[in-house]
Amino acid sequence: MTAEQAAAAIAERTGVPRHRVAVVLGSGWQEAAAEIGAPRASIPMTELPGFGKPSAQGHGGTVHSVTVNDNNVLLLMGRQHLYEGYTPQQVVHPVTAAIAAGAEIVLLTNAAGGLRAGLRVGEPVLIADHINLTARTPLVGARFVDLVDAWDPELRALTREIDPSLTEGVYAGLIGPQYETPAEIRMLSTIGADLVGMSTVLEAIEARSLGAKVLGISLVTNLAAGVTGEHLSHAEVLAEGQAAAPRLGKLLRGILERV
Ligand code: HPA
Repeated sequence: MTAEQAAAAIAERTGVPRHRVAVVLGSGWQEAAAEIGAPRASIPMTELPGFGKPSAQGHGGTVHSVTVNDNNVLLLMGRQHLYEGYTPQQVVHPVTAAIAAGAEIVLLTNAAGGLRAGLRVGEPVLIADHINLTARTPLVGARFVDLVDAWDPELRALTREIDPSLTEGVYAGLIGPQYETPAEIRMLSTIGADLVGMSTVLEAIEARSLGAKVLGISLVTNLAAGVTGEHLSHAEVLAEGQAAAPRLGKLLRGILERV
């Protein structure tokens, strides 16, 4: 219900009845939005039904409407997290609303710690699959949603055509907000994770449940706890995002031009 109200508000405030693509820009990805194009309209999230205000530093709190080629695109600048005390339904609400506003493709971005040997700080990695370690689900009512190929193989192939240097990885989503211990990182490696973060998995589940295609890209902002012996900081996460912004922005624009 609230999602429909938010979708109606987005249509009215932007003058665009349907936005075919939605992009969630997480930590480290805010500056990349500037490369995508000038928004025709920008709406503070606090003015949209059901939206909260993203509070983690580096999260914008605005919804932009931009057109790339013929695609009307919603840029959701920032997200809410479980660690801020939001429920799973609140966390996914912007994605639910964007799908109600017409999104058939949902592009999820985030900052992640890199576990796999060879991953480098500043490198974007395509999400090939996920491990939901939040012990939560956004689904209420929907049952037994299939998550085979949840991370759309065709969209991933298209993205690798645009940037053949991209690798793929498995993203483990935890609640946070504390970073992991080195022992937890060893466990995550053992169970098959390449990337670790505190978002994204619930949004992907919600989008698949509603039939949207999902593409995901993690920016490796740090090597995971214990990999280097260095300490982890959110400032480092944001700084790496800034440094990578031109590359990330070009990649996003390339995707939006071709989907
Ligand atoms: N762990 C969890 N979340 C993160 C990390 C990390 O190392 N880096 C960026 N987000």
